[in-house]
Order: sequence, then structure tokens, then C-alpha cells
Amino acid sequence: MTAHADELTPYGGVQADAAWAEEVRRLARQRDAVLLAHNYQLPEIQEVADHTGDSLALSRIAATSDASTIVFCGVHFMAETAKILSPDKTVLIPDARAGCSLADSITAEQLREWKARHPNAVVVSYVNTTADVKAETDVCCTSSNAVDVVSSIPADTEILFCPDQFLGAHVKRVTGRENLHVWAGECHVHAGINGPELAERAAADPDADLFIHPECGCATSALYLAGEGTVAPERVKILSTGDMLTAARSTKAKSVLVATEVGMLHQLRKAAPEIDFRAVNDRASCRYMKMITPAALLRCLREGVDEVHVDPETAARARASVQRMVEIGTPGGGE
Ligand code: 13P
Ligand code: SF4
Repeated sequence: MTAHADELTPYGGVQADAAWAEEVRRLARQRDAVLLAHNYQLPEIQEVADHTGDSLALSRIAATSDASTIVFCGVHFMAETAKILSPDKTVLIPDARAGCSLADSITAEQLREWKARHPNAVVVSYVNTTADVKAETDVCCTSSNAVDVVSSIPADTEILFCPDQFLGAHVKRVTGRENLHVWAGECHVHAGINGPELAERAAADPDADLFIHPECGCATSALYLAGEGTVAPERVKILSTGDMLTAARSTKAKSVLVATEVGMLHQLRKAAPEIDFRAVNDRASCRYMKMITPAALLRCLREGVDEVHVDPETAARARASVQRMVEIGTPGGGE
């Protein structure tokens, strides 16, 4: 269970300067470690990592890397997913307290009860879930392949989709499936990026593209704005973090309003420096992602902590659903 954000004091006191980056790289080599960083990490962590990407891309890299140690600069469920895919590797996370409010919005017990009420349904879980929930799941997905995963299931099969209600609503809208039941969970960061705020920003900059993560509370509002003509429909793009990078490289827009966690702006600005990227809500920062500080990463590499363990029996039950996830859909951004 994720610690309440107010209880979390990140490791601090280390400057992310060139000497720090050099030491991080040296220690990583010494440990035969590959450094993976999610797009929501602090810019200095993204810069020192071997690979930065979205959840799907990083899971795929974790599954195929030759390194004997994976250092996952992200949140706990991401490191757990890497351990499920590579049980023989050492998986480290610089701060194991880096949880996820979305992953906490369904427990394995709740999922078992839900399944008991729909015995013939296939369970599709977002990767933002605990290993225990993945062990009760048929196929996992990320935001970049959720539509592909659901489309791969026969149309007459009932689906239980958990835990994110906004991603679930997006998948339901795109696939048109009526037999998809959605769990009412949410990410506190994305749910807080709301429709009125988006409408105000979009009205002030009508030529801007809107890049919207499907976990956002404002995704439905964006489509509504397009429907009523406030924004041109082709400017509304509902994208995973990795797909936002691909879209940034091809758009003709001069400015883009970005609805997701603010860490994403770093990679977007690097990918297309000529575009003016602006956050729809600049307070949308995930405290859990930001637990991975320069001090935490140094401590991790020096001391070999925090090591991530998944009970082998749970991991064995979860592995098939995660393996299906990495096999379905186009490459996640960051590969
Ligand atoms: P993606 O990187 O898959 O878009 O996920 C976003 C997210 O919220 C991870 O916590
Ligand atoms: Fe979880 Fe939301 Fe943070 Fe992503 S941004 S790690 S979904 S709490």
C-alpha cells in the first residue's frame, strides 16, 4: 500500500552536477546495471538514464536487457513489473516508498469479488496495479496499447477493465464495446487535470494542439470541445506519454497544451525545441515519481537498495498477463 504523500520526505542533499552524473554512471557500470527512467522523472534523472520512455517501452527494455541488474527510476509497480518479467535479475528502485494512487485503487481481494460476479469475463488490468492484482489478471495493458489489447479479445466476450475509469472510458469510446465494465479508480494527479481548466487554456490558444493522457479527467471534455467546435477535432490527441513524443515530432502546430504529469515536458521540449509546450495544469506533479531524487539514485547504486522482491508464486501467476502486454501493440515510445 502506498504511503500517504504527506508522510514522504524524499532523500535529499545531493546536487545533480557533472560529478554526480559521472559517479552514477561509474557505479552503474560496476554493478552491471541498466538505468531506466520513466518520462515523469526529474529531468536530471531522465538525462543520466540509459533509456527514458513510457511504461510499455520500459517494460520491453527490462524484459530484453542483458544487464544483470535493472535500476528502475519510476514507481514501485513499474519495478515490480520488471521483476515479474525478469525474475533472475536484481531489480532495484531508488526509493521503494514511490507508490501510485491508481495502483492502490483496486486490491486483489476486490478484483476476485468482481470476477466472481462476472465468471465468464476476461480481466484486462492496466499496468498501474500491484503484482497481486496482475496475478488475478488475464492480460495487462498500458495506455499505449489498451485499445489494441481490448480489440484482441473476441467481441462477444465480456471484459472487466481496471482500475482506471478514464482510460476505461477512452477504450470503450474507441472500441465501441458495450460489454466492457470499468472499475471506478483514478490517478489523483491526472484526475485533477480538469475540463474547465482545459477549456480556458484551449480558448486562449485556439491553434494549439491538445496532447491528453487518457488517465486525465479532462479527456471527455476535450472531445466535447472538439464536438462543439471550440477546438478543431484533429487537434485533440489522446496519447500515452511515449506516443506524445512521436506526435511532437510530426505536428505542424506552433504550440501544444499538454495534459499529463509535468515531467513529460522535458522530453517533449527536447524532441521539438521549436514548439511551445505548456502544461494544462502546472501543479500536476506526481510526488511518488519525484521521490527518485539524485540522492536516492546515488544511495541505490552505492548500497544496492531498495531491492524489489515479488513472491515467486505470485510472479508466476502474473507473468503470462504481463508477457501478453509486451507482445501486443506498436512499440511504446522511448525504444
Ligand atoms: P505511460 O507512460 O504508459 O503513458 O503511463 C503514464 C503513467 O501514469 C504512469 O504512471
Ligand atoms: Fe500513479 Fe498517477 Fe503518479 Fe502515474 S502519475 S505514478 S498513475 S499516481
